Amino acid sequence: MKAIVRDSYGSPDVLRLEEIPTPTPADNEVLVKVHAAAVNKGDWEILRGSPLWVRLVGFGLMRPKIRILGSNLAGRVEAVGKGVAQFQVGDDICGDILEHGLGAFAEYVCVPEHAAIVRKHANLSFEEAASVPEAGLIALQGIRDKGNVKSGQKVLINGAGGGAGTFAIQLAKSFGAEVTAVDNSEKLDLMRSLGADHVVDYTQEDFAERDTRYDFILDVVGVRSIKTWKRVLQPEGIYLAAGGSVSQIARTLLLGAWISRRTKKKIGVLGVNFNKKDIATTLELMESGQITATIDRCFRLQDVPEAMRYLGAEHSKGKVIIVMSGR
Ligand SMILES: NC(=O)c1ccc[n+]([C@@H]2O[C@H](COP(=O)([O-])OP(=O)(O)OC[C@H]3O[C@@H](n4cnc5c(N)ncnc54)[C@H](OP(=O)(O)O)[C@@H]3O)[C@@H](O)[C@H]2O)c1
Repeated sequence: MKAIVRDSYGSPDVLRLEEIPTPTPADNEVLVKVHAAAVNKGDWEILRGSPLWVRLVGFGLMRPKIRILGSNLAGRVEAVGKGVAQFQVGDDICGDILEHGLGAFAEYVCVPEHAAIVRKHANLSFEEAASVPEAGLIALQGIRDKGNVKSGQKVLINGAGGGAGTFAIQLAKSFGAEVTAVDNSEKLDLMRSLGADHVVDYTQEDFAERDTRYDFILDVVGVRSIKTWKRVLQPEGIYLAAGGSVSQIARTLLLGAWISRRTKKKIGVLGVNFNKKDIATTLELMESGQITATIDRCFRLQDVPEAMRYLGAEHSKGKVIIVMSGR
């Protein structure tokens, strides 16, 4: 099979298309023919081995242990191990395989059946489904579970024109919130079209200078000070960081715990739990038309290096997707 492999950390230049043996599923695994895979910021970080946490959490200190990137995929089950009970050959599936060694930038990948993979319905394309696992779960667990967003509340989404933000706008609107979406000028129309009530171009205006105070803030960027976030929250408001550097996340955890003890404001970090149930819920919301995937560009497997460069430049609207030719 064809796969995009690498043997060292570095820029997208270290990636190359190679012919390698198609894997054989173990007893508890399914062999998936990948039809589409999302490119996530995590792939960019694991490609570069930076920030440092990537190397410290087991991806390889000096050299990468993982040759094939890609953690969000949609595809068809081609073979099943003899112990597999949940899936059959021919099932269309979608899910996240970050905890199972990645490998979606390839024609085939073996995935344990207990991984965060679920069946996908026929009315969703593979591209749409592949955009869900990481971005959709950040939005779902942020807005619904941790934010407990309710009708009439004021919600701010920082970085709202990217992968997670485009889902988060729609989810917050579906719960009846008044949504302020912050991103750059090129994404304002997109954010309005997804339902944002107010849009802010961060290159032109500082949303924190407005008088509005928010009940819930989902921040996928993580560059503003905790002092700023505290100031723009309602007295019982919640701020959650889903992205940001290691030092920013550490600051959010430390200062957030301090602020949360002394006030009714809650400031913390969203740690996404990749699970079958939430992926299935997000797919159902898409299948019923309540939310839609925002796909910026699709690239072919051999163009993964270009897709990574495109993602690394950080100006994509919604998701960047790899599609397999001849599927
Ligand atoms: N918490 C967890 O468990 C967990 C799990 C997985 C991933 N993550 C993280 O969650 C984040 C997911 O983000 P994503 O996939 O939505 O990323 P994304 O697609 O890159 O979106 C980020 C958006 O933020 C915008 N932006 C950049 N700087 C900004 C600023 N100063 N103010 C407002 N907007 C700004 C970007 O626009 P530009 O075009 O202007 O750059 C982009 O549209 C990533 O950081 C990822 O590492 C967290």
